[in-house]
Amino acid sequence: MSVLARAALPCLRLLPAEAAHDLTLRALALGLVRVRAAPPDPILRTRLWGRDFPNPIGLAAGFDKNALVPDAMLRLGFGFVEIGSVTPLPQAGNPKPRIFRLAEDAAVINRLGFNNDGLAIVAARLAARRRHGGAADRSGIVGANIGKNRDAPDAVADYEAGVTAFAPLADYLVVNISSPNTPGLRELQRRREVTALIERLLAARRAASPGREPPLLVKIAPDLSEEERGDLADVALTSGIDGLIVSNTTVTRPPDLRGGHAHEPGGLSGKPLFALSTALLAEMYRRTQGRVPLIGVGGIASGADAYAKIRAGASLVQLYTGLAYQGPGLIARIKHELAALLRRDRFASLAEAVGSGG
Ligand SMILES: Cc1cc2nc3c(=O)[nH]c(=O)nc-3n(C[C@H](O)[C@H](O)[C@H](O)COP(=O)(O)O)c2cc1C
Repeated sequence: MSVLARAALPCLRLLPAEAAHDLTLRALALGLVRVRAAPPDPILRTRLWGRDFPNPIGLAAGFDKNALVPDAMLRLGFGFVEIGSVTPLPQAGNPKPRIFRLAEDAAVINRLGFNNDGLAIVAARLAARRRHGGAADRSGIVGANIGKNRDAPDAVADYEAGVTAFAPLADYLVVNISSPNTPGLRELQRRREVTALIERLLAARRAASPGREPPLLVKIAPDLSEEERGDLADVALTSGIDGLIVSNTTVTRPPDLRGGHAHEPGGLSGKPLFALSTALLAEMYRRTQGRVPLIGVGGIASGADAYAKIRAGASLVQLYTGLAYQGPGLIARIKHELAALLRRDRFASLAEAVGSGG
């Protein structure tokens, strides 16, 4: 990590969480955050959906909601970056404060409520990136995560608009029906609702990007009932989607949380989410018999954490909260540790390790 980045981290902690985040985005956009790039390690390379990922460590949705810094994040060493969630219309989100650090727990609670610039502006940013060659670099994989406006009269139409706008511009699409901060959103995970939603979105994708259809993934919550988990596994196997992201933040509160903000409403991320989201990942891998690609996310803060998700069935992983606590040096550390673990256990490739823990 550069001297500047190392010195900045403790200073950022003195600011309210959202102000620190905004400042970080600005520094990234100005090219002020740099890390010494480690040479890519071939054991971390992986191929999925016909694309080559230089490594399986991705930036989770929510960090770069508005696609301001995808290439800066790729330069920090992420194997792929997910922008969003983006809603059709720009939206201010919930009143501040709405992001809370639980430092003692290495966790965050957020109730942002999809604050974002809206489809037109964010899609224009991705289009400009393409024009300037960002995507010409085949390793620069950028996915787009789509949501719905809070007061949308027709939720499905909102997601359709997202698919239509991003299908020609993104390397993969994520249907976020698991944020806890938009009333009614998570009900779209029910069998009937999600089946109808996916059918419409696959049709929208076909229409928007014939012959070059990006993978369509559904991002799920860690707080589903047994019945909902079974239903979603069935839907993943039969509906024609290309994968699941497991998981979003939790509305549950483990009893051993120590942070003073533990009772703030919103979604909990970071270390206390790790066990819950990894158990769900392993269950979905088992229920889908390894036939549906899974992205594991929730509480990753080390190479061992990433490795546990991969062994539980993740073909790729993502993180966000760990980055806020450990800074950009975390990405190289995770890659280094993960490569060492794969070699220790005599895996010839990352793909061989996927689901090997079950
Ligand atoms: C401040 C914040 C904002 C987030 N915004 C989004 C979002 O817009 N869309 C989404 O799908 N997930 C969002 N997430 C969830 C993350 O993508 C991820 O699923 C979750 O934080 C668990 O990973 P982590 O423990 O590594 O942070 C957000 C998380 C945080 C902490």
